[in-house]
Amino acid sequence: MSNWAKRLAAGIVAGALAAGSASAAEKPSKMGLGRQALPEEIAAWDTDVQPDGSGLPPGRGTVKQGEEIYLQRCASCHGEFGQGAGRWPTLAGGQGSLNADRPNKTIGSFWPQLAPLYDYIRRTMPWGNARSLTADETYAVVAGGGVENRRSLAGAVLWKDNHWALLGAGDLARALAAAPSGLPIVVEVEDDAQLVRALAAGVRHILVDNQPPLRVAAWVRRAGPDVTIQASGGITPETARAYAEAGAQLISIGALTHSAPAAPIRVDILPP
Ligand code: HEC
Repeated sequence: MSNWAKRLAAGIVAGALAAGSASAAEKPSKMGLGRQALPEEIAAWDTDVQPDGSGLPPGRGTVKQGEEIYLQRCASCHGEFGQGAGRWPTLAGGQGSLNADRPNKTIGSFWPQLAPLYDYIRRTMPWGNARSLTADETYAVVAGGGVENRRSLAGAVLWKDNHWALLGAGDLARALAAAPSGLPIVVEVEDDAQLVRALAAGVRHILVDNQPPLRVAAWVRRAGPDVTIQASGGITPETARAYAEAGAQLISIGALTHSAPAAPIRVDILPP
């Protein structure tokens, strides 16, 4: 142990002894550390949200707003449908798993009430960027997330590249016909042929994967105003404008979080 480290350790021990010998009447402030928290500081943290909704801040948000915020701020980790991207936690499914060896704690299984869910999201999410959503944005996310995740993964038909590879257009038509009305149906499209087949099958939400803005613009025109086109795949804050101008109503940018640069914050302890 270097000299300065020894001195530091001795200082800490001396401090601990002094604290140990302090009588109950003496306030810990005798150690010269910290200060009393101000009432406003305590009030800022002292939120007490109850399952019945008491203690929630005023605000409002719709499912549609929530979907957009979720796609921008949450989907990079939790997946577009709450299925979890990579090894990030899933938010959907998990019902009946809480007594299992590896419980799957999701909105459906672990967060049955919306008020504590709101409180949790407001305090902690997006992970690493907590409290960056306004009260209204959080309400919108809870409104959207609540609907989506209580239905679990079975609550939306997501037809992706693997389905195209393994199943035919007839299966897509059958899936659409079998889906209860109101169930979101999203079909990922990577080429003209898939787009044509999806539109012919009556799909109203197309997820365009890995295409340049020019092709997105062509597909937006081809799909018409009744179809929501969502651009995804390799889009960055720099290229997002081009996709917006191409007419995509929704844009997914995973880069916002999974490629966020690390801030150079460090603590150096220097010898005295
Ligand atoms: C950078 C990745 C990341 C982003 C972005 C993110 N989360 Fe999370 N989320 C996590 C991690 C990690 C946990 C688990 C935290 C824990 O267990 O302490 C979590 C947990 C949760 C949970 C609780 C699930 C459980 O295990 O009980 C909810 C609900 C949630 N997130 C919602 C959101 C919402 C809503 C957003 C967007 C506003 C969001 N998250 C954005 C990483 C992320």
